[in-house]
Amino acid sequence: MSDFLKDDQFEKFKELIYKESGIHFSNSNRSILESRLKERLRNAGLSDIDEYYSRILKDQEELRVLLDSVTTNLTRFFRNTLHFKTLENYVIPDIVQYKSEKNETRIRVWSAGCSTGEEPYSIAMVLKDKLDDKFELDIVGSDLSLKSLMIAKEGYYPESRIQGVPPEYLEKFFEAKREGYQIKDEIKKIVRFDYHNLKYESGLKNVDILFCRNVIIYFDRTAQEEVINRFWKVMTNHSYLFIGHSESLFGMNTKFEFVKTNWATVYRKFV
Ligand SMILES: C[S@@+](CC[C@H](N)C(=O)[O-])C[C@H]1O[C@@H](n2cnc3c(N)ncnc32)[C@H](O)[C@@H]1O
Repeated sequence: MSDFLKDDQFEKFKELIYKESGIHFSNSNRSILESRLKERLRNAGLSDIDEYYSRILKDQEELRVLLDSVTTNLTRFFRNTLHFKTLENYVIPDIVQYKSEKNETRIRVWSAGCSTGEEPYSIAMVLKDKLDDKFELDIVGSDLSLKSLMIAKEGYYPESRIQGVPPEYLEKFFEAKREGYQIKDEIKKIVRFDYHNLKYESGLKNVDILFCRNVIIYFDRTAQEEVINRFWKVMTNHSYLFIGHSESLFGMNTKFEFVKTNWATVYRKFV
């Protein structure tokens, strides 16, 4: 047992965080929660954990900061290249054909849990490169981490973070700046960022391609199923869902169909 957090205190924080975000803490990752709480207490100038708990019940802003601090924001450009090959060689051609037959001109993408923006920007570069201006592109990146969203909005990445970007994309869509690279405006203007907690309805609709990778891995089964069912509702009747390669909808009560492509597996909503 830890000196800092008694079992009943751990349970209280665990339940609140789960209720507010879907993020599930257990004994195996309890130390992460403890270290984040210690840091929050220090920053809030408090020494009593029960006092901090009372504060977050009343103070929405502090609750947001706490949720932000317990998230894992690890990401990178073109993470899981096979997903991007699936997007480029399978999903985009299919959506283009479908939309062309229906005379539709807009493609909407949602990167849910986009962290610092590498994922939606990678998607934007592929779409821009493949479709140029034939379609109106609308890409939304959302997250509950405000810290991450600020970096995403700026679109500036130090050299160490642009590994994985294909050289031709680096040349075309980035500008060298200081010790790193700035995403060019032609990409920035098709990607918008929004604060959104996946525990709630997003207000989005007509999503053609949804990426939610390495996010629901931190949720328990119930919260995962709720999120996936909410995705279903905002997606068009001919749309695709990418989840992380270590995540699965197997055994879940969902109507998404599993599609095995030459590159990676993806889920689709075809109704
Ligand atoms: C590990 S990152 C994944 C980033 C990117 N999708 C990728 O695969 O590289 C997980 C992100 O999910 C976000 N997240 C976790 N719970 C969330 C929730 N309830 N609502 C919105 N975003 C959440 C975290 O803030 C974090 O930025």
